[in-house]
Amino acid sequence: LDDPAADPTDVARAAAADIARLTGVERHDIALTLGSGWGRAAELIGETTATLAATDVTGFGKPALEGHVGTLRSILTARGRRVLVIGARTHYYEGHGARRVVHSVRTAAATGASTMVLTNGAGGIKHTWRPGQPVLISDHINLTGDSPLEGATFVDLTDLYSVRLRDLARRVDPSLDEGVYCQFRGPQYETPAEVRMAKTIGGHIVGMSTALEAIAAREAGMEILGFSLITNMAAGIQTTPLSHQEVIEAGREAEPVISALLARVIDQL
Ligand code: 6GU
Repeated sequence: LDDPAADPTDVARAAAADIARLTGVERHDIALTLGSGWGRAAELIGETTATLAATDVTGFGKPALEGHVGTLRSILTARGRRVLVIGARTHYYEGHGARRVVHSVRTAAATGASTMVLTNGAGGIKHTWRPGQPVLISDHINLTGDSPLEGATFVDLTDLYSVRLRDLARRVDPSLDEGVYCQFRGPQYETPAEVRMAKTIGGHIVGMSTALEAIAAREAGMEILGFSLITNMAAGIQTTPLSHQEVIEAGREAEPVISALLARVIDQL
């Protein structure tokens, strides 16, 4: 992936071949990236038939952060669907470039998955929201200044976060609200002024992932569903300082409820 002349789709195909060999599962139907707070969902979705260290799969590096588990799992649901669970997210702020960030998404597509479910823990801007609340991502604003697309690849991003899948999620939980996700580079949290900017330009959620991954998933032809767990209110919305520890703890508290929600939604896909 570090070789600019290499085609990232070829690397993803090699990774998908590793996954097929190591899991014994030739094709997956759905892929799910677990962000902070969503980790327990895997146990509720179905039977885990294989767990891999991401480092055994082509192109996957080491996880950088506490709360981000570096494993890939193959899960078989009660309805016989194969779910590839990606617990090994590479964040843009790690500085290895957009290619590394979206490698898991391209790999998921190469395993055959036609649906990409992206989850994250993020800051909330809407005053009606409370920490621990899951929300649907309705659209995004990519503030990284970067793209996973290479060359003159003009990809349409209309209805990037599938209307059909959002409706399906709301049938599982009619109380789900939705909002526009702003991906900042991080790893610092936003200033209150940056949060005001995000609000002014139409954002409701601030985070450090997902948008670049969604772009790559659309390029690969996947249908996308996005969930944010509001772990805290964004800077200036909440008056107390933000800490990573707080974000992790909020995730841990919400985990049983949001994991059950996610498992029910996956079951309906
Ligand atoms: Cl407030 N901002 C960003 N960028 N990421 C977050 C967050 C805030 N809270 C949790 N993750």
